[in-house]
Parts: sequence; structure tokens; C-alpha cells
Amino acid sequence: PIEERIDLLMKQMTLEEKVGQMNQYNGFWEVTGPAPKGGTAELKYEHLRKGWVGSMLTVRGVNQVRAVQKIAVEQTRLGIPLIIGFDVIHGYKTLSPIPLAEAASWDLAAIKKSAQVAAAEASASGINWTFGPMVDISREARWGRVMEGAGEDPFLGSKIAEARVRGFQGDSFGDLAKVNTIAACAKHFAAYGFSESGKEYNTVDIGNATLYNTVLPPFKAAKDAGVRTFMNSFNILNGIPATGNKFLQRDILKGKWNFNGYVITDWASIREMINHGFAADGKEASQRAVEAGADMDMESHLYVAELVNLVKEGKVDIKLIDDSVRRILRVKFELGLFDNPFLYCDEKREKETVGSKANNDAVLDMAKKSIVLLKNERNLLPLKKSGQKIALIGALAKDKTSPLGSWRIAAEDNSAVSVLEGMQQYKDNQLTYEKGADLTVGPTTFTAELVFNTTDKSGFEAAKKAAASADVVVMVLGEHGFQSGEARSRTSLDLPGVQQELLEEIYKVNPNIVLVLNNGRPLALPWAAEKIPAIVEAWQLGTQTGNALAQVLYGDYNPSGKLPMSFPRNVGQCPIYYNFHNTGRPTNSEGNVFWSHYTDVEKTPQFPFGFGLSYTTFEYKNLKLDKATYAKGEKVNVSVELTNTGNFEGKEVVQLYIRDITASLSRPVKELKGFELVELKKGETKTIRFTLTENELGFFDNEGNYLVEPGTFKVFVGTNSDEVKETAFVLK
Ligand code: IFM
Repeated sequence: PIEERIDLLMKQMTLEEKVGQMNQYNGFWEVTGPAPKGGTAELKYEHLRKGWVGSMLTVRGVNQVRAVQKIAVEQTRLGIPLIIGFDVIHGYKTLSPIPLAEAASWDLAAIKKSAQVAAAEASASGINWTFGPMVDISREARWGRVMEGAGEDPFLGSKIAEARVRGFQGDSFGDLAKVNTIAACAKHFAAYGFSESGKEYNTVDIGNATLYNTVLPPFKAAKDAGVRTFMNSFNILNGIPATGNKFLQRDILKGKWNFNGYVITDWASIREMINHGFAADGKEASQRAVEAGADMDMESHLYVAELVNLVKEGKVDIKLIDDSVRRILRVKFELGLFDNPFLYCDEKREKETVGSKANNDAVLDMAKKSIVLLKNERNLLPLKKSGQKIALIGALAKDKTSPLGSWRIAAEDNSAVSVLEGMQQYKDNQLTYEKGADLTVGPTTFTAELVFNTTDKSGFEAAKKAAASADVVVMVLGEHGFQSGEARSRTSLDLPGVQQELLEEIYKVNPNIVLVLNNGRPLALPWAAEKIPAIVEAWQLGTQTGNALAQVLYGDYNPSGKLPMSFPRNVGQCPIYYNFHNTGRPTNSEGNVFWSHYTDVEKTPQFPFGFGLSYTTFEYKNLKLDKATYAKGEKVNVSVELTNTGNFEGKEVVQLYIRDITASLSRPVKELKGFELVELKKGETKTIRFTLTENELGFFDNEGNYLVEPGTFKVFVGTNSDEVKETAFVLK
């Protein structure tokens, strides 16, 4: 009867109250204290009391949420509760690894669990809606926001989108009303990850083949998993701002996909359409946005100012307003807010849940699973547990803020377990610490330009001394957590500051180096890839960073992560991705220069998509199909034997790729279509089976039709997108 309850309520609503539901304000002030005089805060209070606000974001904690909710429920004419939004991107206070790192686990159950923990903490703090998951596919390491997504691949991205939505919202429809779930939001609709040259907020100009086959699938997967909201994006797509894009929001999302939740704009993106040159003023921008299907205005302050007049002047059809309001109320009803507006306001639960031992255990588990072993010559890793002299070097090794990563608004500075603290727990080794070089000066959430130490090498000598007398040197280098994330685009993918110099200096005195990378994006480190014997990709791993890393370095946990993005050899290769299309001249078969390549660097990435080592080794054998030819609609059964041939128990992500050799649209040279995380004891062999159906074998044409075409398909199975076994079949 939700729809009937909405009917009843909407009959009582004035036009102003309806438009109010479409208005979202940021609540950055302490709402339990006095409202700041003058300015927007005072205006927001006034609008709240009039019922002109449907949602608030960034209000957090039971006390504050209760304070604003009380105004909405007790002081407005109809008492419609607010929906409270927040960027719960990789946890609330107890932080999981950044989302790109989580994606490196390829462990869907763990990723779902991580979202569950985030939802439990956020909902215990008054929040009932997250602006996540971010499902933007991106191939651009220069773009700072790759840290928030699942990487470059639409298949992996779709599976992770589904896992995250289910983690936040629950598996079935009624779960949203439970106290420990929150509404999710698939963002940024659409194609934000394709901003030209990775520059933040930049133009997006992509063809339909990329839009339908690469950009949209994770959004569709989120929709199919029941996601209740979408957020549109800052960028223009082929000339039309996403916020004013009818094709995206009405034709595809609400039309073809039949989505019945609502669309929130990104921050001030309605107003930004004026800068895009798509609307002359706020009034026109509002009209364009609402016509295009943007239901709720985040912080443009325009719907609340313009929509009532636009309707009265006959420029905007009231039916559009009614449709938006119905969608917003629907989600509020589903969350149970009308039955109990204070459902999420329980101090006792807040105290018990936020930062609990169980939540810390869960994010530790996620953190270990997110680590990727990139190189391990001479079995330098795992470290011995006793009798080794270890020099730990790097400012990031001691830092307790950077490991939290970007987007962690509710977590406190210095709340992560540092690598130093983690390693100190292994007491039977002699551990010395030297920072070597400072990385940054005072980065914060709002510091746009970071200042790097590019000159001060005063710590080098002490670090070299420590390294020279150590058996093994562990160097924690990379980006500060605030160097990736929104508006953190970079033109260089090197180690910032003097870190590369430090690495090379230390190498001269002791080459037994384990390089632990901290970064929110792929880095290009050709020197390190060649010279340094052991490299561990540790991203920003959240609250439990040091514990997770120490367990991996000391072999208490055998790493199994695999890269969700290709790592380039240099920045000039970007965008670089495994599922590219063949050119007409893919190889130098003629033996001359006229083929598709760079003349100054190899064509391949430094580390390919799907790459990651283990302390053990795996062997793939007997890749088989059950037939050589299949009729349309028939299932293709694939099997492969996997043996643990090394000395440790371990996990391997078995990856299956296909190539549709000839089609009416050029298809990528490889496309991930299946993967399985397999655990094997020493010497154990398992047969891994995959089934390919029409869902995996087809593609979208440029009109958005899904086609499965007859012809030859290659099937590849292996340990990463490059090292695979190969077979083929014909689809009749
Ligand atoms: O959710 C975010 C979005 O991803 C970027 N702009 C601001 C929003 C709210 O904080």
C-alpha cells in the first residue's frame, strides 16, 4: 500500500511542499547548537521549518540528525521526514580500504560484507542514505577518482556494483526498512570516469559503443540489484550535461530500465549547467534539469527558488514535479521513515556499533584481501619472524591519517593503525624506523593543491645508515591519501616529492628492498619494477592498515589480490587498458615502423589488469570446452585444472576472458566474462568450471540493442589478463 499512502499524502501537499521534497541542503553546521546568523545556514533553517527541504546531507551523529528530523517532523505542516544522505564511500568511522583496493580482492562476499559494516555504522549514526557505490568505469590513472571505483572493467565493475548495493541495502526489497541498512546510490550517471585526459570535471565525448558496453553495464547491474537512487554527474556527455541529459535519465534509466527510485544531482550540478553554456540562468537550468529527469537538487538552491514559478508560468508540467515527488516519497516510505522518523536515532546503538570490535575485524579482513603482491624475487617475502634486522623507511610508514584514504568524512585524523605499529607487533625482529623524507605539508580534505617536499633530503643519511645495517629494508612510499579522490587529478604517476631519489639512494646501500606502495591510483614506476626485488601494492587500506600489512609481510596472510586496473610503464601510455580494440596494424609483422605502437616504450603495461602474485605458485592445465560447436542459446561449459604447486596454502583468482573474433561491431581483444576465487592447499588440484551463456557472449550495438552473433569465439583462462591458456569454439 506504499503507493496508496503516497497518493493520500500527495493530495494534501501544496506545490511549494512538493518542490520542497526535491530540495536537498548540506548541513555543515552544528545543528544542535544555535544556527549561525545570516547567510545560508539561517535560510536553510527557515526552509526546513516551512517544509521546503526533503533531504539533508553531511548531517551526522544521532544528536544532530534528531535535531533536524525533529524540525521536519514536528514543525512543518505535514511532518514529512527528511532522508539523510552522506558519503559513506568506504566505511563510516571504521574504514575499509578505498574502493579501488577492495576491488583488487575480487572477493564479492568480502566486498558485500564491507558495505554491510559501513551501512551498520552509518545507520547507527542517523544516516539512511549513502552516495555510493561509485560505479564509474575508468581507464584513466591520472583521474583522482579512480580510487572510488572498481577499476577499468565493466564485468568486474558490475559484479562489485551488485555486491555493494546488496551490502548497503540488503538482498531483498523489504530489507531497506531494517534499521541497519541504508539506501544506496549508483553514481555518477554517466561516463564521469571518461573525463578527457583524466582532468577532473572535464568534457566527456565517447561513442555509443563505449557508452553501452563499458559505461552503462555497472549502472544496470546496480539497478537490477535494486539500488534505490542514482546520482547524475558533473560532466557533459557528447555536449549535453549529464544533469540536463534526458537521454540518460529519462530514456535509458527511467524508460528502458524502468527505474522507479529517484535521481539526485551532483553538488550544484544544476547551476553548473550555466557554466557549461547549456542554460542562460538558474531558471532555465532548473527547467532543463527537471525535464531531463533530475529529481532532487543537491545544493544548487535552484529547484526551491525556481520550480514553483516555472509550474505557475506553465513552463514546467506539474506532472514532472509529481513524478519526482512520488519517487522521493517512495524511497522514504521504503526506508520506514514515515513509520518511525527516528528509526536511525538510537544513541545506545550508535555507541555499541560505531568502532566496534566486530567492525574492526571485518575491515581488517577486507584490508588483507585487498593487498596485491606485484613482485617477489628471491622469495624476499614473507619476512622471517625472528632473527632479521629490518629497516622500515618512509614517512607514510608512520602516518596514521594517510592510510584512511580519501572520502572518510566521519573518521578522525590519526585513527589508522600505521605500518610501523603493525610491524612492531612482530617483536622477535629488530626493527628500526627512519622517515627518510617528508612527503607532504598539511594536506586536508579541502586543500586543492598539495605542497610536496621536493628539496629536503636531510633525512636521507639516517635512512641510509639504517638500511646499510639491515637484512631487509621495507620502504613505504607513494601518494598521501589526499592525493587521490575528487579534484586530485595528476599529470605524473611517479612517486611524489623526493621519494624516487630516496628509493634509489637506499638501493645503493642495500638492494634487499620490499617496496610497499601506498596509492589511490595506478602508479608508473619503471625503475622500481626493474630493480626492486619485492613490491607490494597496499593502496590506502583504511583503519586497520598496519595490522593487515604486517600480517601479509610476515606471511600470516598469503596475498591473493589482483589489479583491477592496468599499471602503465609511463604516464604517456594513459589511458591503457586490457580490453582494447585491435587496430588494423596490431603488430610489426612487416618489420617496419608502420604499426600501432609508441616508438619509445613497450606497448604493454608494466603490470596488466588482473595481475597479482602469491607466496605460493599455481599451475593451469587442461583447459577444455565440452563441445567445439554450440547452437544459439546453448550453454558453453568451460573447465580448467588448477594446482597449487608451491609451498603455501593460497588463493587464486581464476579469470576467464573471451574474444568474439568477428562481429558487426569490432569487439575487444579480450573481455573478462567470469572469475572465481579458489582456495588450494599445498599440492592440491581442483577443477574449476565456468558456464558461458548469451549473457556473456553478446554485446550492445550503437543503438543499444543487445546482440549475440554467430561465429568463432576464443576462450582464455588464466592468472591475469595476459598470461592465459587458450581455446576456441564456434557459435552457430
Ligand atoms: O557524493 C558526492 C559526489 O560524489 C561528488 N560531489 C559531492 C557529493 C556529495 O558529497
